[in-house]
Amino acid sequence: MGICLSARIKAEGHLHTGVNSKYVSTDENEKCISSSKLSSVQSVPRSEGEILQSPNLKSFSYADLKLATRNFRPDSVVGGGGFGSVFKGWIDKNLFTAAKPGTGLVIAVKKLNQESLQGHREWLAEVNYLGQFSHPHLVKLIGYCLEDDSRLLVYEFLTRGSLENHLFRRGSYFQPLSWILRLKVALGAAKGLAFLHSDEAKVIYRDFKTSNILLDSTYNAKLSDFGLAKDGPLGDKTHVSTRVMGTYGYAAPEYLHTGHLTTKSDVYSYGVVLLELLSGRRAIDKNRPTGEHNLVEWARPYLGNRRKVFRIMDNRLEGQYTIDVAQKVANIALRCVSLDSKLRPTMDSIVEELEQFQDSKNLENNHHKTRNSPRTRALDAVNTSGTNKNTAYPRPSSPPH
Ligand SMILES: Nc1ncnc2c1ncn2[C@@H]1O[C@H](COP(=O)(O)OP(=O)(O)O)[C@@H](O)[C@H]1O
Ligand SMILES: [Mg+2]
Repeated sequence: MGICLSARIKAEGHLHTGVNSKYVSTDENEKCISSSKLSSVQSVPRSEGEILQSPNLKSFSYADLKLATRNFRPDSVVGGGGFGSVFKGWIDKNLFTAAKPGTGLVIAVKKLNQESLQGHREWLAEVNYLGQFSHPHLVKLIGYCLEDDSRLLVYEFLTRGSLENHLFRRGSYFQPLSWILRLKVALGAAKGLAFLHSDEAKVIYRDFKTSNILLDSTYNAKLSDFGLAKDGPLGDKTHVSTRVMGTYGYAAPEYLHTGHLTTKSDVYSYGVVLLELLSGRRAIDKNRPTGEHNLVEWARPYLGNRRKVFRIMDNRLEGQYTIDVAQKVANIALRCVSLDSKLRPTMDSIVEELEQFQDSKNLENNHHKTRNSPRTRALDAVNTSGTNKNTAYPRPSSPPH
């Protein structure tokens, strides 16, 4: 049956350390989603001929990328997952050849584990989707390398790393993300998904989660990791039938049950991420008390109730938001995680709703604090620079050595 949701969860488990690693279940039945409806895995040709024409993509040699990442040095690893590791590297802006660390263009190089059919599929999906798109809320793919069994992807390096790190990693490197920045990230990620769902792109992303949302120096959110992306349905069709893949805790229930994939499956995952932003809790956290392992199930009863919504809010956000705005955002999340997919909003309408909260006038009308409150100062800072200057957010990745 190839690699199903379970395997990806298993693989993703390597990523998480400490507290987080425990959310990966060890119960085989829970982890492996039945794939009896799924067609068998076909052999995938592995040649450059499969790559769609992408004039903007550069084909790199393995030797160049090895040099650019200083021989894939373990201390330049900035991330990793089921199918490989991501390294930081440097290339010359014009020649695209390896550059001295700390000079030229900073890149992220994803090196896939060899000999994995699923790895090859994901590599190809990334080249073919990201290679075609250019959008402010999608990570930029600079090029790729396909040499013998080696498959690599070269992206622009996003200095602040993944949203996952900012929300869930503890330590002096990662200060809690402020409310204003959470709203900014929520809007940026929504715009990225809305673009994918638009007639122009017609793509279902299928793996929307905090580790796939990257942040640039001013917290603009960009979607990365297009390994599981799929063409949306054609003509009158409402869904595409697929193997069930994705990440436990983010995947829409009807997709898990039927394998029917729609843009509304992505909207469900978006709702889960919105809940993670509001609560600072992971989608699945087995370290929490019974009844709180699954974020959606735990939060659902509080989301539609103005008097209860504060109970799900991250207490690191105290004093930064008004109940009015928090309730409105919680209400978007509630609609996104509706069990009936038809009741979920479109990404376009979510963008419209979230845009209201970025407007400082609107925010000020909604809150009842005095002009000199910390919240107002934070807003002013955001309006001038896009970031909250009151909080220092050091780089999540290792600095150049
Ligand atoms: N362009 C990038 N800039 C900075 N960090 C990145 C970049 N791409 C990936 N990463 C880091 O590597 C992690 C894994 O990357 P991802 O593309 O999601 O790979 P996987 O397929 O293994 O999940 C991300 O969560 C992020 O922390
Ligand atoms: Mg990923």
